Amino acid sequence: MTMSACALRVFLQRAAVMRDAAHQTFSHARAFPQRVTASRRINTSNSLRAEEKVTVHFLNRDGKRITAKALIGESLLDVVVNNDLDIDGFGACEGTLACSTCHLIFEEAVYKKLGAVSDEEMDMLDLAYGLTDTSRLGCQVCLRKDLEGMILRVPDVISDARVDSEKESSAAPPKV
Ligand code: FES
Repeated sequence: MTMSACALRVFLQRAAVMRDAAHQTFSHARAFPQRVTASRRINTSNSLRAEEKVTVHFLNRDGKRITAKALIGESLLDVVVNNDLDIDGFGACEGTLACSTCHLIFEEAVYKKLGAVSDEEMDMLDLAYGLTDTSRLGCQVCLRKDLEGMILRVPDVISDARVDSEKESSAAPPKV
């Protein structure tokens, strides 16, 4: 079985994040659930990076366009974090497919180029607010040359599946 550089990067990033998360306390995660900080900056191995960059445009919730240049092979979560883009709450689970806060809406023509959605991504997309036929999770989409200039819409409302499930369990009536 072969794995593309992009898929390998997503896999390695997820493994690293999960390893780091194992060292964090639950209370810390609860105290800072949504804020993307500089300490989360994702370091990627140069050997896995192409040197070519592509331009990506995000249409933010306030209607403003944020433009970033990023390396081919980076995920859209990498693009937001590494460029410190001001998209509130984006990527809360750091790419571990646990939150759906990285929900992005693509233009149809671009969406068709992206390829199949994994079952795990589909499960998490089902929990996203404002789901569309061209929705994907930014942590699962990696940049390619043919995505140059794409425009991505940030949904008006995000849901963090972890917070939502926590609320549900705390709202559940006590067992009799
Ligand atoms: S960052 Fe949490 S699902 Fe993508």
